[in-house]
Amino acid sequence: MPDMPAFPLLRAAELLRAGELVAFPTETVYGLGADASNPAAVAKIFAAKGRPADHPLIVHLPDPGHLDAWAREIPDTARQLAAAFWPGPLTLILKRQPSVPDAVTGGQDTVGLRVPGHQLALALLANFGGGIAAPSANKFGRISPTTAEHVREELGESVFVLDGGPCPVGIESTILDLSGDELAILRPGSITPEAISKVLGRPVAVATRASAPRVSGSLEAHYAPRTPVDLVSSDGLIFAVRAALARQMPIAVLSSQAQPLSHELLTWRQAPALPAPFAQELYATLRSLDGLGVARIVIQQPPAGEAWAAVNDRLRRAAAGAGAEQA
Ligand code: TXA
Ligand code: MG
Repeated sequence: MPDMPAFPLLRAAELLRAGELVAFPTETVYGLGADASNPAAVAKIFAAKGRPADHPLIVHLPDPGHLDAWAREIPDTARQLAAAFWPGPLTLILKRQPSVPDAVTGGQDTVGLRVPGHQLALALLANFGGGIAAPSANKFGRISPTTAEHVREELGESVFVLDGGPCPVGIESTILDLSGDELAILRPGSITPEAISKVLGRPVAVATRASAPRVSGSLEAHYAPRTPVDLVSSDGLIFAVRAALARQMPIAVLSSQAQPLSHELLTWRQAPALPAPFAQELYATLRSLDGLGVARIVIQQPPAGEAWAAVNDRLRRAAAGAGAEQA
């Protein structure tokens, strides 16, 4: 492309205006962005990811002032939550404006919107001046990227990547559906139901999968390494490790416990004891353990409870989808 600015941010904005794709950092994971008002540009996202065309995309906005250009019949609760959590890892599902391309919404009457909490993303959005449609910058069904290097591993060198270093949150945004009568969390994230309830002064439900069929992040097999993943209790961990080693199986373990034995077939990765750092490292760790060529990845299940809900959700999906080649 001729006459592209050399400065990465300006070049990225220029590429978006030209209908091209740009990968960029957010506080959660790297996104693969396109001009959300340009259906031909949005179509390139689905092609690059190998993602089914009926899966809707999140539109990233420069600031909450853009809400009305994309959504209609916006309830007060949405404005309250936007004021409380944006810029930040909360996606609001709202009724869409008729102008929002079907390519973005998968033909649904709703649209997912968020203002990301990352300086480089906000600078790109401000320069671009409009909505950027962006799913996570990975191949469909695979582990989301949290560094620029991961994006290149997933999508190759042909996609322009704005490098903002490792993503500080590390797992995808909380998705809250405000388009119906009942508020429902469609995907757990670092913003918990408790934090949302606190702002609104009333409880929110966490939707079951059956009521959220159009959220691709809700597919059971998702965020998955190629290596089979076993989720085991802390009590079952040492038994699982010994059983694998007795069968001469090379394994990798992710556990908050200290390494109890050393063995040439055993790779031990100590996991953070708190949910935020666990989430921040999770995808990079899965990616690196997946690259070891071990027979299985054994993960000690973190505690139950709301603070760990988003991490446990991603681990369950990683275990469900691992080992299978997915579409
Ligand atoms: O943190 C994030 O949300 C990251 C960064 C890049 O912003 N993005 C992300 O995008 O995770 P993606 O496409 O991998 O996941 C977005 C989820 C999908 O599961 C999609 O189905 C859901 O949002 N979604 C988007 N629009 C929707 C809508 N109108 N109704 C229901 N779900 C929607
Ligand atoms: Mg994704």
